[in-house]
Amino acid sequence: MPKRKSGNRGPVRSRVPYIKIVPPGPKARAWVNRDEQVLSQSVTRIYPLVIEKARGAMVEDVDGNRYLDFTAGIAVVATGHSHPEVVKAICEQAARFVHMSGTDFYYPAQVKLAEIMDRITPGKSPKRTFFSNSGTEAVEAAFKLARYQTRRPLMIAFQGAFHGRTMGALSLTASKAVQRRHFSPLVPGVTHVPYASCYRCPYGLTYPSCKMHCVNIIRDWYFKSLVPPEDVAAIVVEPIQGEGGVIVPPPEFLPMLADMAKEFGILLIADEVQTGMGRTGKMFAVEHWNVQPDIIAVGKGIASGLPMGATVASTDVMSWQAGSHANTFGGNPVACESALVTIELLQRNLVANAAKLGAYLLQELAKLKDRHRLIGDVRGKGLLIGIECVRDRETKEMAIQERNDIIQRCFRKGLLLLGCGQNVIRIVPPLLITRREADTALEILDAVFTDVEGG
Ligand SMILES: Cc1ncc(COP(=O)(O)O)c(C=O)c1O
Repeated sequence: MPKRKSGNRGPVRSRVPYIKIVPPGPKARAWVNRDEQVLSQSVTRIYPLVIEKARGAMVEDVDGNRYLDFTAGIAVVATGHSHPEVVKAICEQAARFVHMSGTDFYYPAQVKLAEIMDRITPGKSPKRTFFSNSGTEAVEAAFKLARYQTRRPLMIAFQGAFHGRTMGALSLTASKAVQRRHFSPLVPGVTHVPYASCYRCPYGLTYPSCKMHCVNIIRDWYFKSLVPPEDVAAIVVEPIQGEGGVIVPPPEFLPMLADMAKEFGILLIADEVQTGMGRTGKMFAVEHWNVQPDIIAVGKGIASGLPMGATVASTDVMSWQAGSHANTFGGNPVACESALVTIELLQRNLVANAAKLGAYLLQELAKLKDRHRLIGDVRGKGLLIGIECVRDRETKEMAIQERNDIIQRCFRKGLLLLGCGQNVIRIVPPLLITRREADTALEILDAVFTDVEGG
């Protein structure tokens, strides 16, 4: 392992990570116990991290442990925790007014943000934005808009997709059975087709000699046998499947899908809730493939941690009758001010940093793969990276327990990570991470993989 300058040196007060007491410490344990009595346990906590404060890529727990955060609160705090410019904008707007309902009244922050969304989303024709409070609501609005505009009943989504948990978005989701169990009947009319998961192709084909069977099968089989294309309102796609296991499709996939959708008058909805707002090293992931979706759904990173969803479409597509879709809190002025500063910071240097540090991490993780038999694949774009854990590289037998163990051990060493798919470690740090922080994470991962492989 080459010597790296990690953040784990220097005076104790500035060390990150810094583990004073193996987590969970006594205060964390007490909070977890109280939580279990009163909070819905349908949520998915994977380790007992109880947070006291956070700044940049550092999170401190209630027992005084400091962690390096490579989760960004599930790919949300693009600008890092409590970025001073974001906090200032939030405080100033909160002091002016906190809420007045942007669907019934007007205020400048919402208009300014929609003007910026028009400029930064792909496509030259003028666009409009519908604001909401979460990714699932952004997808829900896209779903309704597609049906409204086309007057067609059916939707196509992808196996392995995650689009959220409200009924419409959940009907498009096909990631984990637990997310759908006992909730049927869901919204009818959704067909899930195979995604371009070349690393585990459902047809056993090899790219590029497969000639993009995964797109052609929609046209050649689904459209002819199951889903008449003239009844399809939209194809909903994550440009990179995030929750499904950080699956980057081959270069032809999205352009072919966009062409096919156009040919049949089907709208293309890009769910950029996780991939958008600079995460992949471009403002929107579809830009990697020069694709212009008809509708884009955004969430997570847009407002640096304040709840916000945004559904963006051309003025032609987003022309629906007053009263057909609205909400109370969407486009909240405090969230809008936070988003305005977030986008400024993204454009100033964070998108470029995501591209640079992402390339560095991918390169260094590829070296880790050479040394660790448990690593089957390293993939991603920008700072959306997946490390696939396998017991056997040939058979791709999944190392699910080992993946879980690695995440737990990293937590105890002060590196916060999340999983995705069944056997993938998801790396989604704030977009402001430094080379030193990347090196610290690599050092911890290297040590933990060594331990797990040895034990
Ligand atoms: C691609 C994608 N779409 C939609 C959602 C749902 O977003 P939210 O949890 O904010 O409702 C997520 C959340 O992980 C996501 O990754």
